[in-house]
Amino acid sequence: MINCMDIEEKIDEFLLSLPCTSNIPYPEIKIKEKNIEYANMLLDAYSKNCNSELQAISQYMYHHFTISNKEVACAVLCIALVEMKHLEVLSDLINGLGGKPRFYNSNMHWFDSGNVAYADKLKEKDEHNDDNLCKKLKLDLLSERHAIQDYKLLIDLIDDECVKAVLKKILSDEMVHAEIFKNLIKKYCM
Ligand SMILES: [Fe+2]
Ligand SMILES: [Fe+2]
Repeated sequence: MINCMDIEEKIDEFLLSLPCTSNIPYPEIKIKEKNIEYANMLLDAYSKNCNSELQAISQYMYHHFTISNKEVACAVLCIALVEMKHLEVLSDLINGLGGKPRFYNSNMHWFDSGNVAYADKLKEKDEHNDDNLCKKLKLDLLSERHAIQDYKLLIDLIDDECVKAVLKKILSDEMVHAEIFKNLIKKYCM
């Protein structure tokens, strides 16, 4: 028999031990009251085509599989795992607020992986390396910057302290990710 609580606890403990997460702990995942408008706003951060948790996971896993530099490949894997937790937490909030955590955006357009920033689809080749390492890192930094902007906006717009607290935790992780990508770009692409 699989004990779900046990698995969630182990995963949380593991995630907190990773070097690609902020040291702010997760607040309790709860909401003040149902609000379908807020649920819809969170759907965009959850699974819209560009700049969502689902897109980030697809992009970072793709970069993990296609970047030969070990340090970078491991860093993007680590960050993808943290984004997976963000996706899970957002799904809980969307459910709690009365929405459905389907893989679509607030206009009910289903997620389409064609918008993932693969980098390898771009015509010009990376001058540094044939697996487009620097192009990928720059696209990843851009994704984090968009995430930071989006979460800041959501924190401003959502008038629910419980939801805000969770979004602030996610935002703090995105800031750590942006720093990691900035440092990797400095090390390998300048
Ligand atoms: Fe995230
Ligand atoms: Fe991130």
